[in-house]
Amino acid sequence: MKKIILTGGCGFIGSHTCVELQNAGYQVVIIDNLSNSELAVIDGISRITGVRPTFYNKDCCDLVAMRTIFQQESPIAGIVHFAASKAVNESVQNPYKYYRNNLISLMNMMQMAQEFKLKGFVFSSSCTVYGEPDEGNNPVTENTPIKPATSPYGNTKQICEEILTDTMRAGAAYKTILLRYFNPIGAHPSSHIGELPRGVPQNLLPYVCQAAAGIRKELNVFGNDYNTPDGSCIRDYIDVCDLANAHVKAMTRLVEDRQKEPVDVFNLGTGHGVSVLELVRTFEQATGVKVPYRIVGRRQGDIEQIWGCVDKANKVLGWSAVRPLAETLKNAWNWQIKLNNKN
Ligand code: UFG
Repeated sequence: MKKIILTGGCGFIGSHTCVELQNAGYQVVIIDNLSNSELAVIDGISRITGVRPTFYNKDCCDLVAMRTIFQQESPIAGIVHFAASKAVNESVQNPYKYYRNNLISLMNMMQMAQEFKLKGFVFSSSCTVYGEPDEGNNPVTENTPIKPATSPYGNTKQICEEILTDTMRAGAAYKTILLRYFNPIGAHPSSHIGELPRGVPQNLLPYVCQAAAGIRKELNVFGNDYNTPDGSCIRDYIDVCDLANAHVKAMTRLVEDRQKEPVDVFNLGTGHGVSVLELVRTFEQATGVKVPYRIVGRRQGDIEQIWGCVDKANKVLGWSAVRPLAETLKNAWNWQIKLNNKN
């Protein structure tokens, strides 16, 4: 059974990826410092798959600790590297934290991949690298020009992609896939794992769920005067289980040595844009629950519209998003109900 290291495996996307990897027959070892996640996530994963992943409560910036884990767990086939700080606002307030955490953890994991002769490295990147696409550039492809980052968080994703690309092109013992996510949403259909926002949610769907549950008075819709059909911003919302499944496809391609290039990059989305107001309406239809909302001013730094071209992932990885938006929203709501019952 091939062993995969999942850094940040207790997080939102990490935990769903752990489930998909285990279901595909991989043995998973999670490294997570629980800085933005909870240990109970491991129980949720175990309940879904019947297998408890190995777990190390360690920081990927700690090279000595990483080496000890890799020595203990060797042989290892690959790494999926999620562990990173990801709040756009916080990164503007505290850039050093973002550069330090996101760059050092990446470089430590790259060093481990080289030292322990891994085959594959899958990196968690973001459509944030495209910035605001020029008019007519939607859907964005992997060849759409990268724009200067608008936040230190976004910049760390760009720099990490460059570090990996340069290193792969210069020659390394392993190969890499960069995965650019659009907007991951939803929860596992079992409601055993889902998103755990801390404090006031910054992302749309967690806020919608909390507004629907009465935890927040109302959703603020940031702007209805954009140049879009209903005036609200457009994104490509991708189900977290579909997204997780793409990591299995990517990792399998690497461990089976099916990738010729030292590094390749894939967009992961649905290929469709959905507006904020459409998402709210679909949520109400799917769940039968009203979302109190009001239109407020634009949020600074927001992109008007972006969605992804996912033809390359369809063709090369044999992957596509299959869950309908309504089902994804229902799963997110079921997860919210479970959280409500816990508190
Ligand atoms: N929105 C609201 N009200 C809210 C929250 C969000 O109207 O309370 C709107 C935003 O204005 C935006 C859309 O919902 O139009 C999606 O917002 P999110 O914050 O959920 O997602 P973003 O697309 O803004 O951000 C995401 C990731 C970031 C990443 C960025 C790259 O969360 O990590 O994409 O574009 F940097």
